[in-house]
Amino acid sequence: MIVLGIESTAHTLGIGIVREEKVGVNKKWDCLASQKSMFEPDQGGIHPRKAAEHHYQHALELLNNAEQEAGIDISEVDGIAFSQGPGIPQCLDTGAVIARSLAEKHGIPLIGVNHCLSHISIGTRTTKADNPTTLYVSGGNSQIIDYRKGRYRVIGETQDIALGNALDKLARTMGYPHPGGPEIERLAEQTDEIVELSYPVKGMDFSFSGIVTETQRTVGDLEDQVLANSFQEHAYAVVVEALERAMSQEDSEEALLTGGVAMNSRLREMVRTMCEQRGAKAYFPPKEYCMDNGVMIAEQGLLELKAGSKTRIEESTKKPNWRPDEVEVEWI
Ligand code: ATP
Ligand code: FE2
Repeated sequence: MIVLGIESTAHTLGIGIVREEKVGVNKKWDCLASQKSMFEPDQGGIHPRKAAEHHYQHALELLNNAEQEAGIDISEVDGIAFSQGPGIPQCLDTGAVIARSLAEKHGIPLIGVNHCLSHISIGTRTTKADNPTTLYVSGGNSQIIDYRKGRYRVIGETQDIALGNALDKLARTMGYPHPGGPEIERLAEQTDEIVELSYPVKGMDFSFSGIVTETQRTVGDLEDQVLANSFQEHAYAVVVEALERAMSQEDSEEALLTGGVAMNSRLREMVRTMCEQRGAKAYFPPKEYCMDNGVMIAEQGLLELKAGSKTRIEESTKKPNWRPDEVEVEWI
């Protein structure tokens, strides 16, 4: 089975193609193509209309490149998957329109998938984690998600902004370009010094608005390196503490880190150390699959199509606020 996936929830337009086939009694999985183009704002955050325009402009080129990379024609795929939500409405529309057009044109099943669960599915596929408690930290989402009794449950989450968004905001105030996460990481690596900030965790929930404002107030008074390092040490300890509490509550022996912020080496190190201390396993997907990409959408589509799920055209409208715990899980 071959599935093409289209990611367009925010800044990234991604097209991925995956294939799963039987080889004897085993299954062989391959990523046949991964193409992406990222909208980079001149200043400020992501402008919805400009990001959507970017996606429309690059769609054809990426589709052609993906076909070439995979060595197949789109008419040969068994399913067309797209990110139906959550995300920026204008951006979600672009992916949905492209997916519907391709599905209709070639008479191929359409599969609208949940973006958050796709991050988890590509994580378990590429790391072979069995049933992990997931810490999903990106620019738009920060959640602790656990699969129990037929559903993914959000057992902890941010009460305001996402961790990646917090990093981006702080970096912008400091005068660094978007995305801010890698800039903050680079600065933080240059010092061991930290100043004390607040520590916003309550049970398995957390929040970042306050600590961002607190740190923004000291921009200019303290060295950028110290600010960046202090923010990372506090904010990452907060999510790792919440993850540990969740693992303890769920009796979980595996942790999976995913989303754009999962690219961060310091956060990976903290998750690894916490898991070692608990005798649990820590899983980190390859970095190209942590950030938004089309391959994870193709993978989610493949899982759902194998389980017999398809999305009718009239049910394929965007779902900007679609939570992972609302999804009927039929593929596990
Ligand atoms: P979602 O739709 O899942 O919320 P997203 O649109 O935010 O995803 P991602 O590509 O998953 O997109 O994540 C982007 C975020 O990851 C940005 O906020 C960026 O600053 C952050 N990020 C990227 N690299 C790093 C890094 N090395 N350290 C920390 N944060 C990082
Ligand atoms: Fe994402």
